[in-house]
Amino acid sequence: MITMAIISNPFIVTGKIAPEYFCDRKNESARLVKSVTNGNNLVIISPRRMGKTGLIQFCYGKPEIENEYYTFFVDILHTSSLREFTYSLGHEIFETLLPRSRKMATLFIQTIKSISGKFGFDPVSNLPTFNLELGDIDRPEYTLDEIFHYLSKADRPCILAIDEFQQIAKYPERNIEALMRTHVQRLDNCHFIFAGSERHMMQEMFLSSARPFYQSADILELEAIPAEVYIPFVIRNFEQRGRTIAASDVEKVYALFHGHTYYIQKTFNESFANTPEGEKCTSETIKTALGNMTASNDTIFREILSNIPEKQKELLYAIAREGEAKHITSAEFIRSHSLTSASSVQSAARKLLEKDLITEINKVFSVTDRLFAMWINQLHGEKLNCI
Ligand SMILES: Nc1ncnc2c1ncn2[C@@H]1O[C@H](COP(=O)(O)OP(=O)(O)O)[C@@H](O)[C@H]1O
Ligand SMILES: [Mg+2]
Repeated sequence: MITMAIISNPFIVTGKIAPEYFCDRKNESARLVKSVTNGNNLVIISPRRMGKTGLIQFCYGKPEIENEYYTFFVDILHTSSLREFTYSLGHEIFETLLPRSRKMATLFIQTIKSISGKFGFDPVSNLPTFNLELGDIDRPEYTLDEIFHYLSKADRPCILAIDEFQQIAKYPERNIEALMRTHVQRLDNCHFIFAGSERHMMQEMFLSSARPFYQSADILELEAIPAEVYIPFVIRNFEQRGRTIAASDVEKVYALFHGHTYYIQKTFNESFANTPEGEKCTSETIKTALGNMTASNDTIFREILSNIPEKQKELLYAIAREGEAKHITSAEFIRSHSLTSASSVQSAARKLLEKDLITEINKVFSVTDRLFAMWINQLHGEKLNCI
């Protein structure tokens, strides 16, 4: 009987990435590890799905971190109040420590008094369970204080990563940034990673002298994985599994998405899945993958457009058409895209930036989501002939 080894897809798009499937990030991970092991806090800024979470998880798996620290990762994108923040943080800390240290789990109950009465108990293990309702936290500020106090008593140093950290600036309660800053400053056995994808807001929080977190952390702007590393990574992963792919096709996909990690992973995940062993991944296979990606986002993209006023939409389309748009208020740009005036472009740009639909780096504007840009251009009849 012939047994065939199941070849797993090397282009990971969900969940944890095993180190052998993790591409590059050598300098960035060295910086992260150095920063936190030297007692500093680190800010990581990048567009969504460029690889912040992946980088943090990758570093958490390194022996010098894993064996020495308690590591936590809490994503607060969905939270809109201090109470929700406190809940998410408490939940993450409790669930991480429960399986690792019975002592720390017990200490949790003893320290977080404001909510411990509401904990359940697992009848089999006789350990507490974190099955609170949001409403059980009736004094979030107090509970948060207890949580940080608990971390200060941990029997190992801690690293706490807070993803989409800019969210705290949107909570309705006053002075949350100042409150958080005080806790962060006070905890000397706990180092923080503040990740965020709203560049504008994150920079304001950490670079503006009027804000509590001003200059309190090193800043890492996570860019695309360089083409000279990413392209060979893709080719090698095909070849090691008995398939081939033309370097020029990989280059085109890289260029199409400007190196955006998720979209590249997604394109090659699907292209790989559709390439039988012993064969070549053709440009047709890649085109099909790209077509499926735009199609599966169709509803979402239409909905986004339906909420944008016409003037902003016109500018968004113009920027999508250009790819990288310079001098957007120049007469030339306004004329060639039939826009109204420099002042209307300016106010539309401000609105689009606020909504994070476009990104500005050194006066060059682009549509933040490259797939969205591609979809907009298709909407206007552009074919995918770049592949
Ligand atoms: N270095 C990497 N190598 C391969 N895939 C990666 C890498 N970094 C991230 N990814 C993949 O890219 C996608 C987006 O990464 P993620 O870390 O979730 O981004 P972010 O946290 O910035 O939104 C995920 O599907 C992840 O699996
Ligand atoms: Mg993330």
